[in-house]
Amino acid sequence: MDVHVAILAAGKGTRMKSTWPKVLHRAAGIPLIEHVLAAADAIGPVSTTIVVGHMSEVVERRLAHRPATRFVVQEPQLGTGHALLQTEGALAGAQGTLLLLSGDVPLLKVSTLKCLIERHEASGAAATVVTADVADPAGYGRIVRDLATGRVVRIVEDRDATSSERAIQEINSGIYAFALAGLFEAVRRIGHGNAQHEYYLPDLVAIFRGEGRNVESFKVGDANEIRGVNSREELATVTRIMRNDKNAALMAAGVTLEDPATAYIDRDVTIGADTVIHPCVTLEGTTTIGAGCEIHSGVRIVNSQIGDRAIVFNHCVLVEARVSNDARIGPFAHLRKDADVRAGAKVGNFVELKNTVLGPGSKSMHLTYLGDARIGEKVNVGAGTITCNYDGEKKRQTHIEDGAFIGSDTQLIAPVTVGRNAYVGSGTTIREDVPPDALAVSAGKQRNIEHWVTERRKKLQKTEG
Ligand code: UD1
Ligand code: CA
Repeated sequence: MDVHVAILAAGKGTRMKSTWPKVLHRAAGIPLIEHVLAAADAIGPVSTTIVVGHMSEVVERRLAHRPATRFVVQEPQLGTGHALLQTEGALAGAQGTLLLLSGDVPLLKVSTLKCLIERHEASGAAATVVTADVADPAGYGRIVRDLATGRVVRIVEDRDATSSERAIQEINSGIYAFALAGLFEAVRRIGHGNAQHEYYLPDLVAIFRGEGRNVESFKVGDANEIRGVNSREELATVTRIMRNDKNAALMAAGVTLEDPATAYIDRDVTIGADTVIHPCVTLEGTTTIGAGCEIHSGVRIVNSQIGDRAIVFNHCVLVEARVSNDARIGPFAHLRKDADVRAGAKVGNFVELKNTVLGPGSKSMHLTYLGDARIGEKVNVGAGTITCNYDGEKKRQTHIEDGAFIGSDTQLIAPVTVGRNAYVGSGTTIREDVPPDALAVSAGKQRNIEHWVTERRKKLQKTEG
């Protein structure tokens, strides 16, 4: 049967106390809604529709990279039942099954969704509700069953429940499979006679039962899977579960995490076997790290690629950078966008690179800024070197060719080229190209003035006396 997906994401998320839409809050580095979409995509649905409302433009803009996804706007937001009704136009003529997901329930596994659809379609039910038994059901809708038959009779929201209903530990996940046939006719019958005066989607269960249609339930074994995010505390809980899962997968694949509790690794990060991640490391976005690397404490790496056997010492920040095999970075280095440290090169403490290639085997070990530079092989960049890449209007390039030696405290005023194997003396300001094999010096000859200090002291004593 065809499967269509609809995701509810119009709510304000009042309990988040945020100016930002709830579904765009990040868990393990990725917006909640993207986690839900990843699970939905894996089903291979015929169509995906997202109900947006609160700050809909912001949500749509964030998902603009998904041209096939349809958005429908729910304005005002009168509850989850009202939200589903908004998809009627988008789903006109659609047949088969509607998988209804919640933008704030991000831990659902693809295997669970597949199993849900299979069971739902096999039973021919009007609806199948995903449920779970939880120790603390507060805040969730409760599944009310017929004592004699054990069948789901209705779902009661926490706020509307009697004290005995509140004691029920089986909760509604907010995830459902629906038969599209007759669905919207039933949705239109949902009322709003409840504590929040909202159109509750879970009321569909009682409506279908009243029509004599079958409603099934599908209980997940791991209640963590259906955790919803309504508050910052729940966001932190969900994030912790995601990170634990990610860390477990990495360790199973041969990565050492010295302290998994302080390894903050986003979902899409990849790490090769025998790499060691020390405590308090943050690896974000699309970062890839090769095999046999060592990443020391206090390092943050964002959307960067690291080769094999590289070492990143403590307290480095790498953003959109590349580091090749066997390179050494840090401690205290800053690799910014398009820093490209080639094989076996070394970057030391308090060195910043931006849009710069540091060629194979080259070294820049201390207190240096290299911006918009192309540096060849086996170049030595002395302490305190600065590429003056900005003339107040434009960024300009510095070229340092293979084997060159840049003495300490050099300023290279770009655009400028230092030729192959050339030497630059310490304290030089390079304004013109240096030919290959030449020595460049710009500081004047040193002058020593004998007895200058003694003479000065005498003069001062005279004026004071
Ligand atoms: C909902 C269920 C509850 C279930 C819980 C599971 C209802 C009435 N209650 O409660 O039974 O246990 O989820 O997590 O459905 N939304 C809209 N438009 C609206 C209102 C909400 O799109 O007008 C969206 C929200 O953005 C959110 C989802 O629907 O993604 C759920 O809404 P929320 O207000 O979080 O419902 P809960 O109180 O968690
Ligand atoms: Ca919720």
